[in-house]
Amino acid sequence: MTLPQNPGPIGIFDSGYGGLTILHGIRQRLHQYNYMYLGDNARAPYGPRSFDVVYEFTRQAVLRLFEMGCHLVILGCNTASAKALRTIQQHDLPQWDAHRRVLGVIRPTAEIIGELTHSRHVGVLATEGTIKSESYNMEIQKLYPDVFVSGVACPFWVPLVEYNEADSPGADYFVEKRINQIMALDPAIDTLILGCTHYPLLMPKIQKYLPQGVQVVSQGEYVANSLADYLQRHPEMEQRCAKDGQVHYLTTENPDKFKESAQIFLHEPVQVDNITLG
Ligand code: DGL
Repeated sequence: MTLPQNPGPIGIFDSGYGGLTILHGIRQRLHQYNYMYLGDNARAPYGPRSFDVVYEFTRQAVLRLFEMGCHLVILGCNTASAKALRTIQQHDLPQWDAHRRVLGVIRPTAEIIGELTHSRHVGVLATEGTIKSESYNMEIQKLYPDVFVSGVACPFWVPLVEYNEADSPGADYFVEKRINQIMALDPAIDTLILGCTHYPLLMPKIQKYLPQGVQVVSQGEYVANSLADYLQRHPEMEQRCAKDGQVHYLTTENPDKFKESAQIFLHEPVQVDNITLG
């Protein structure tokens, strides 16, 4: 397979809009690079989809980002990181181009947990797919065997954000319900991971219902730190990342719809192009 070899943008992939919170965190720290954001909005949400389907959709998206010039792609989606990252790294990358890289958002989040929790009891709120995969439990256990991890799926949270209902009174019911559920599962939790990139938009309500003293970990900042560290340790990759500070947005849905919803996440107008995957 022949892929473009000149410096290109860093790819950020998400099933839809959620990865914009990751892009935002990354750009705050690493604004000098070019980014290409791809949201597979036409096929979102990924949360309830099977392993095979999430893998296939993610594989198509990553390959497209490589074909469009990216050398490094971040899966800015927990569901894709949980269900597709490992297979793409082990099976597809060696066939496509052994010098390209795909990184996820679960590992960087798991890495800092040991430094944040004092009680050694951690909660994870995420999509059904991420919770069922047990990826957070496995990653955290590998790094910090003494940390006890509990998870709860929050099926209605993604639509609340995408339909711009995150601040509505109706959202209180769903947020309170899941916060109570996870705290009942393990009242010793002192650190709560928002393991879905949409959830930071529900932060005011999450804070409202969370018992005092429980800290919330949202991923943007930690993924950005981890990427900065990665680029420092891999100068050969850093040199292949274009540096004009530009962002190119792509969606598999209607660009006008993307523009409207992206404003909820980014608070600024964006230019978007449509592409087809699959
Ligand atoms: N943003 C995705 C994640 O982080 C969830 C959205 C979806 O279900 O597609 O898991």
